[in-house]
Amino acid sequence: MQKEVAKLMKIHVLFVCLGNICRSPMAEAIFRHLVREKGLTEHFVIDSAGLGGWHVGSPPHEGTRNILKEKQIDPSGLIARKIRKEDLNTFDYILVMDRSNLRGVRELARKLERHRAEVRLLMEFAPEKGHSEVPDPYYDGRFSEVYELVEAGCRGFLNYLMNKHFSQETGNENKL
Ligand code: 4NP
Repeated sequence: MQKEVAKLMKIHVLFVCLGNICRSPMAEAIFRHLVREKGLTEHFVIDSAGLGGWHVGSPPHEGTRNILKEKQIDPSGLIARKIRKEDLNTFDYILVMDRSNLRGVRELARKLERHRAEVRLLMEFAPEKGHSEVPDPYYDGRFSEVYELVEAGCRGFLNYLMNKHFSQETGNENKL
């Protein structure tokens, strides 16, 4: 019984940046693509949000849309929203792009008695890149460089989840 219930539980992943129009929607689309490639879509809920509310309701920045198109990654369903403190209890993992994001999410967490989410810097999962943060391309337009970092972080994070939550033989049994 316990195992049957566990199999139905989805892993909830939220990517967070400042505006939710450049880095975190890029991460959301890339991570969804990687999860689909592994045939694990049904095991995940994947979303993104921003700490600021300036772009709520907007599609991703043109730079993010262009690089996703170039890499043939589906950009559909990416609409900016602001993070809510409830997200800390809905999501299992919150992956942030930089330390300023980390401070912002931790500030929200302080408003709650307890929370469920494990909050981590995305680049912790791609130490080989030598970057602890994903720089903001909003002002300098370096979307290709940002793509390489975000893609490596998402791959590393999915590997981490595969080891932690899925059986290695079948690759599709959720151990949550
Ligand atoms: P993002 O980039 O956090 O990667 O989405 C930004 C987008 C917009 C702004 C800042 C960063 N802004 O100040 O409007």
